[in-house]
Amino acid sequence: MIRNGKDSYGLVAIVLHWAIALLIIGQLVMGTIMVRMANQRLAFDLIQWHKSFGLLTLALVAMRLAWRLANPMPSYPGTISDLEARAARGMHRLLYALMVLLPLSGWALVSVSVLAIPTLAFYLLLVPDLPLAVSERAEHVWMLVHRQLGYVMMAAVSIHVLAALRHHFRLKNGLLLRMLRPSRFREGAGRNSDIV
Ligand code: HEM
Ligand code: HEM
Repeated sequence: MIRNGKDSYGLVAIVLHWAIALLIIGQLVMGTIMVRMANQRLAFDLIQWHKSFGLLTLALVAMRLAWRLANPMPSYPGTISDLEARAARGMHRLLYALMVLLPLSGWALVSVSVLAIPTLAFYLLLVPDLPLAVSERAEHVWMLVHRQLGYVMMAAVSIHVLAALRHHFRLKNGLLLRMLRPSRFREGAGRNSDIV
C-alpha cells in the first residue's frame, strides 16, 4: 500500500507524482505570466514565490528519486507492446531529467544575477547561491536555458497527459487508475497481468 507493488504504485509514489505535477504546472503558468507583467512590484513578489515553490519542487523531486530507487517501477499489463512500454519509460526519464534541470537552472539564474537579490524561501529560509561566477552574460545564458527547458517541459507534459488520457479513454487499460489509487492491480502477477 505504501510501497510500489509489482503491478501497482504505492501511496508515496502517487502522492509525490500528483504533488509535483501540480507544483510544476503551477510554476509553468506562474513563470510565463510573471515575466510578461506590466506591474513590476507584483512581478517582483511573484518571482519570490516562484523561487520558493521551485526550490520546494526540487526538494520533493529529490525525495521522489530516492523513493524511486528503492521502489522499482511497476510492470505494464500484457496488452501494452514492448515498443510502447519502452517509449513510456523513455518519456518518464525525460520528465525526471527536466524535473531536476528546470529548477536547478532557475537556481543557477538567480545565483549568477548581477542584481544579487537574496533567495529567502517562503520568507523564512535563506537559500545560498550556487557557486557560479556572477556576470550579465551568465545571467542571460541561464535565463535562456531556464526558459527553453520550460518550453520542453510544457511539450513533454502535454504528450504525457495525452498518452495518459488515451490509455484511459481509448485503450481502457487502467493505467491512469493505478496512478490514482494504490494497489489497483493484482499483486505479484508480473508483466502479463490483467487488471482485477
Ligand atoms: C519546477 C520548477 C520551475 C519551473 C517549471 C519554472 C518555470 C519558469 C518559467 C516557465 C519561466 C518564464 C520563462 C520565460 O518565459 O521567460 C520562469 C522564469 C523564472 N524562473 Fe523559474 N521555474 C522553476 C523553478 C525556478 C527556481 C527554483 C528558480 C530560482 C530559485 C526560478 C527562477 C526564475 C526566475 C528568476 C525567472 C524570471 C526570469 C526573467 O526575469 O526573465 N525558477 N520559470
Ligand atoms: C508536470 C506534470 C507531470 C509530470 C512531471 C509527470 C511525471 C511522471 C513520471 C516521471 C511518471 C513515471 C512514474 C514514476 O516514476 O513515478 C509518471 C507516471 C504517470 N503519470 Fe504523470 N506527470 C505529470 C502529470 C500527469 C498528469 C496531469 C496525468 C494525468 C492526466 C499523469 C498521468 C500519469 C500516469 C497515468 C502515470 C503512470 C503511467 C504508468 O503506469 O506507466 N501525469 N508521471
